[in-house]
Amino acid sequence: MENIDWSNLAFGYMKTDCNIRCTYSDGKWGELEVHESEYLSLHMAATSLHYGQESFEGLKAFRGKDGKVRIFRMKDNALRMQDSSAGTLMARIPVEIFEEAVLKVVKLNERFVPPYESGASLYIRPVLFGSGAQIGVRPSNEYMFIVFVTPVGPYFKGGFQTTPFVIMREYDRSAPLGMGKYKVGGNYAASLVAGERAHQLGYSNIFYLDAKEKKYIDECGAANFFGIKDNTYVTPKSSSILPSITNKSLMVLAKELGMKVEQRAIPVEELATFEEAGACGTAAVISPIQRIDDFDENKSYIFSHDGKPGPICEKLYNKLRAIQYGDEADTHDWVTLVK
Ligand code: PLP
Ligand code: COI
Repeated sequence: MENIDWSNLAFGYMKTDCNIRCTYSDGKWGELEVHESEYLSLHMAATSLHYGQESFEGLKAFRGKDGKVRIFRMKDNALRMQDSSAGTLMARIPVEIFEEAVLKVVKLNERFVPPYESGASLYIRPVLFGSGAQIGVRPSNEYMFIVFVTPVGPYFKGGFQTTPFVIMREYDRSAPLGMGKYKVGGNYAASLVAGERAHQLGYSNIFYLDAKEKKYIDECGAANFFGIKDNTYVTPKSSSILPSITNKSLMVLAKELGMKVEQRAIPVEELATFEEAGACGTAAVISPIQRIDDFDENKSYIFSHDGKPGPICEKLYNKLRAIQYGDEADTHDWVTLVK
């Protein structure tokens, strides 16, 4: 792949050699199919287009120093997609089909897995949606599952960096008993106006509070929040946030580094007590937070005075990346080698 500038890749789409598809009809899943086309032919009354019957996942494959390709926590993504199906009455994709499709798409596009030295990786995007026609508000009888890949750059081009977030109470991402805990497209559509406003004001994203009381921390943009204080990793427990696989991994690593871990409701004022704070997710692993401005209360919670990430964020980030790239032993069975 002599014509790809691996060290300058963005988090964007690039065409690769093929994608894998599997369709569900007559109550069962069919065989995996390899497609070269990036397009699909879809019924205009498909439930995904009208009633939002769809979910997606995001995971990554990494090339190690040894040249081998490793996929991070594939099974957890499969299980989360099953939860999203339960939340939208879609057919469940069996874990074995999900895993087989992911392994196959990575293997067939192996030349797009960036070299170790670039710090880039191969982003894997599974998507599941209702493809059958309905006009009444009812679940589809047919589904399509597609997995495609695209190489993506290291999230922080100039190195691991902090960014600012903003609290604006006029926007909600999801309701306490709503869809926030599922990875469904509608949640992202619901976040676009707020995200755009935050970007225009120079922020990385919106920092969401719980929609009912506006008292507790929910999510930072499309990422989970964590704060660090007194050798403790604190992250929200909330019915409206997506259970992040990165966050789950960081909680395990924090414990191994001798820290306490608390998953509980975090009142917004508690932000003033954290020594460090970060947003976590597959795209960036950790996006350390420089400060959070509370627009309505005219307050700023500052975590980094010099703009640099804190030492614990950096330690956790390095540790997780080392496992993903195979520099450190995978003692938790998080990694699948592509053979
Ligand atoms: N929260 C939201 C809303 C997300 O879209 C994501 C991204 O996947 C995350 C959190 C982080 O989850 P994960 O660590 O599994 O990528
Ligand atoms: C993440 O991977 O951290 C995300 O937030 C995924 C996003 C592109 C939907």
